[in-house]
Amino acid sequence: MAELRTRIAGLEMENPTMLASGILGQTGESLFRIVREGGAGAVVTKSIGLEPREGHGSPCLLELDNGILNAMGLPNPGIDSFGEEMAVALKAGAPVIGSIFSDSPSNFAALARKMEGYGAAAVELNLSCPHAEKFGLDTGSDPAKVAEIVSAVKSAVKMPVFAKLSPMVPDITAIALAAEDAGCDAIVAINTMRAMKIDIDIGKPVLRNKVGGLSGRAIKPVGVRAVYEIAGRVKVPVIGAGGVYTGRDAVEYLMAGASAVQIGSAVRERGIGAFGIVSAEIAEFMKENKYKSLNEIIGLARGK
Ligand code: SIN
Repeated sequence: MAELRTRIAGLEMENPTMLASGILGQTGESLFRIVREGGAGAVVTKSIGLEPREGHGSPCLLELDNGILNAMGLPNPGIDSFGEEMAVALKAGAPVIGSIFSDSPSNFAALARKMEGYGAAAVELNLSCPHAEKFGLDTGSDPAKVAEIVSAVKSAVKMPVFAKLSPMVPDITAIALAAEDAGCDAIVAINTMRAMKIDIDIGKPVLRNKVGGLSGRAIKPVGVRAVYEIAGRVKVPVIGAGGVYTGRDAVEYLMAGASAVQIGSAVRERGIGAFGIVSAEIAEFMKENKYKSLNEIIGLARGK
C-alpha cells in the first residue's frame, strides 16, 4: 500500500483524512471511535463556545438529493464541560483538533487556551458558520476581523492555529491571506453554504431556522475551486473539505493543492469506517497510477 502517513502544520497523521467539525464530534467516545474503528488520521471536535448553547431546535437537519442541509445552530456543552470529552478522545492516539467559535478575539483566545490545556494538537477557528448570528460570516467575511482573531489566538497558545473559511465571500484568497499574515498555520476550506429547502405541501421552509448550511456532494466543486485558489496564494498547508465521499474525491482536493481532506457528510452514508475506506481508495488510486507519495499528487492540477 502506498505511504499515506503525513505531517501537516506539525501534526503527525497516519493518513490524510480528518473528521470534519460538526459530525459526531461532541463526545470523546465518538471521536475515539472515529480514530480507532474509523481509521481517521485526525479528528476535529464539534465547535465549542464559551457557554453551553442549545442551538436552533428541530427540524435542524435534512438529507437532500446531493447533500445535507443543517441548521444545528452551534449547540455545544460549553468549553468548561469539554475537558472530559477531550481526555477520552486523546486516548485514541491521533491528533485531536479543537474547533472553537466566538464573537470576539479575546473570547477566541480564551477558548483556545482552554483547548490547549485539554491537550488539543491544534485549534480550528470556526469563522464561517453560515447561519448562526454573530458567530460566523459577520467576522469570517472581513479580512481585518479574521486577522485580529488569528493574531489574538496565536498570542495566546503555542499549538498550531487553523482557520476554517467560508466560500461565500467575493474573494476567499483575501481572507486566507489575512489569516496567513496574522500567523495562522493552516487554512481549512470550505465550511457549508447558506441554503434553504421549502416544503411545497405546506408552503414553508422545512428547517426551524429556515436557513441552513449545505454540505456534501453538491458543494464539492465549490470546495475544490476554493482550495485551488487559496493554495495558489498561501504558503501554509490547505485542508480541503466539502463533499469528500471517496478516494477519488480526496485525490481531486489533493490535486487542487490540499495537503489533507476533512470528511463529514459521507460518514452518514459510508459509516464511521469512511476514513479507512477513503484512505484505502487513495492508496489504490496511487498504485494504479504509479504515484509513490502524496507529495506527487498535492497541487498536481496547479502545475505546482
Ligand atoms: C452548526 O452547529 O450549526 C454548524 C456549525 C457550522 O456550520 O460551522
